[in-house]
Amino acid sequence: MSKIKIIIASTRPGRKGPSIGTWIYDVAKNRNEMEVEILDLATINLPFLDEPKHPRFKDYSQEHTKKWSKTIDDADGFIIVTAEYNFGYPAPLKNALDFLYQEWNYKPVAFVSYGGIAGGTRAVQQLKQVVTAQKMVPIVEAVNIPFFTKYIDESGKFNGDEILIKSAENMLKELGKWAEILSTMRNTQAK
Ligand SMILES: Cc1cc2nc3c(=O)[nH]c(=O)nc-3n(C[C@H](O)[C@H](O)[C@H](O)COP(=O)(O)O)c2cc1C
Repeated sequence: MSKIKIIIASTRPGRKGPSIGTWIYDVAKNRNEMEVEILDLATINLPFLDEPKHPRFKDYSQEHTKKWSKTIDDADGFIIVTAEYNFGYPAPLKNALDFLYQEWNYKPVAFVSYGGIAGGTRAVQQLKQVVTAQKMVPIVEAVNIPFFTKYIDESGKFNGDEILIKSAENMLKELGKWAEILSTMRNTQAK
């Protein structure tokens, strides 16, 4: 089974990212076709990039980088759950991406975004540009959630409707295909 890591991008106190991250985690887990794990950037708590060498050398000096490198190495693909801040994606996510290079290479990445009328789509468009520089494969099928607060109940739980669940399933199906094929490619091609 492919190992898919769900990255929660927002880190501010009171953020809604974990509600949406937990929802997509549950949808993916119920399908029983991939192994899923949540990586919460607030908990991982990386400092601003503090490595002297370019990440492409994979020669790290800091314990937090070595730990982050192992975590990402272990993945066959990703789901990035992102908010939209000023038409872009949250800064802690860019920092977390920049820390590594080879660990991201030849892995698929799908997006769950949320926001106001644009549903976080402007953040996703920016992200696609960055992840391709890291040789990731962005998945076309996505879950973009406009006016997302209407799906969050008093307990803070996100309750996706039928349309959202359908788009999540389409996205997961596609992500699963790419995760499998790219893992074969990573295993058969010398780096
Ligand atoms: C700094 C900041 C900038 C924001 N800019 C946008 C924006 O460009 N587009 C949008 O749809 N929502 C924007 N919002 C509203 C967010 O969609 C909303 O606050 C959401 O809860 C943010 O995700 P988070 O709770 O996981 O941090 C912004 C919120 C913050 C805090």
